[in-house]
Amino acid sequence: MTMPSHAGTLSFFNDLHPPKSRFQDDVLEGLSRPQKSIPPKHFYDARGSALFDDITDTEDYYVTRTELGILDAIAGEIAAKAGSGAVVIEPGSGSSVKIDKLLNALDRAAAYIGLDISKEHLISACEDLAARYDGLSVGAICADFTQPVPLEDLPIPDGKRLVFFPGSTIGNFEPGGAKALLETIRGWLRPGDALLIGADRVKSADILENAYDDASGVTAAFNLNLLTRINRELNGTIETDAFDHKAVWTSDAARVEMHLVAKRDTEFSVSGQTFRMSAGETIHTENSHKFSIERFTALAASAGLVVKQDWSDARGYFTLYWLERA
Ligand SMILES: C[S@@+](CC[C@H](N)C(=O)[O-])C[C@H]1O[C@@H](n2cnc3c(N)ncnc32)[C@H](O)[C@@H]1O
Repeated sequence: MTMPSHAGTLSFFNDLHPPKSRFQDDVLEGLSRPQKSIPPKHFYDARGSALFDDITDTEDYYVTRTELGILDAIAGEIAAKAGSGAVVIEPGSGSSVKIDKLLNALDRAAAYIGLDISKEHLISACEDLAARYDGLSVGAICADFTQPVPLEDLPIPDGKRLVFFPGSTIGNFEPGGAKALLETIRGWLRPGDALLIGADRVKSADILENAYDDASGVTAAFNLNLLTRINRELNGTIETDAFDHKAVWTSDAARVEMHLVAKRDTEFSVSGQTFRMSAGETIHTENSHKFSIERFTALAASAGLVVKQDWSDARGYFTLYWLERA
């Protein structure tokens, strides 16, 4: 998706972007493991964010279309539950596309705060919202939400908070990490506040694998862009054409795994450190866990959150949950 050129003014922008050394540490540590792995948050440089937006437009990626359909159907209900003058906070906001459904339905939202690790994309999306919603106070926080985000020190306006966490981004975390992230978000909620979160459901392997290996090759480009980013930012010498994209559903862990598979024996250096990979060896780059309603409800409970209501599409592909502090 191309961001419009007109830009509104942000009420605040806080840059808590992690230092480049964090990216370097994660990559060097991850490439040194027996099963090489790199956390998926590092996909999201400016190019990675643009490619993610392109993924959401592909025929195979049912996730975004399905969640938008549910939001259309329930927008009035959400508006009634949120009440007047809500302060909406969106972690992992990306292009802030889904928020239009809420902002158009809510009764005079007081403020919108986008929070994302991808700085340029975040600023551009939030400035676009500020231009389009007259009278809405729009702030932006560039931060890694797996680290503490000191919301109490930031100029968040008063009002009932609605944290909006769509896209099944919660599924990118192993169970322990998902619990920790939900606990972080719980810490942002006061009594009466709520979390509206989207989580993808278990379904047939072919639908899931196609969603993460679309026919037009956009997800492959998204995965391979991580190597280009490493080469650019960490003085890497990785031959990107030595790697293929792979997406595989593993039913035991109820997740789609994305890997970069070495097509041939290859050797490269990153920040001066040498790595060797044999043909067929992989770098594990992302997990997308899928949840039954029961499993997600139990995960939320483990983080001190209670499901007050949930809404699914007719096919049972995706579910949105309204959570409050237990
Ligand atoms: C799967 S995309 C979802 C985007 C959008 N919310 C949607 O529903 O389509 C994940 C988003 O979360 C952001 N993100 C991923 N890891 C993050 C982290 N650790 N801290 C902050 N943002 C993160 C990415 O930059 C990206 O915008």
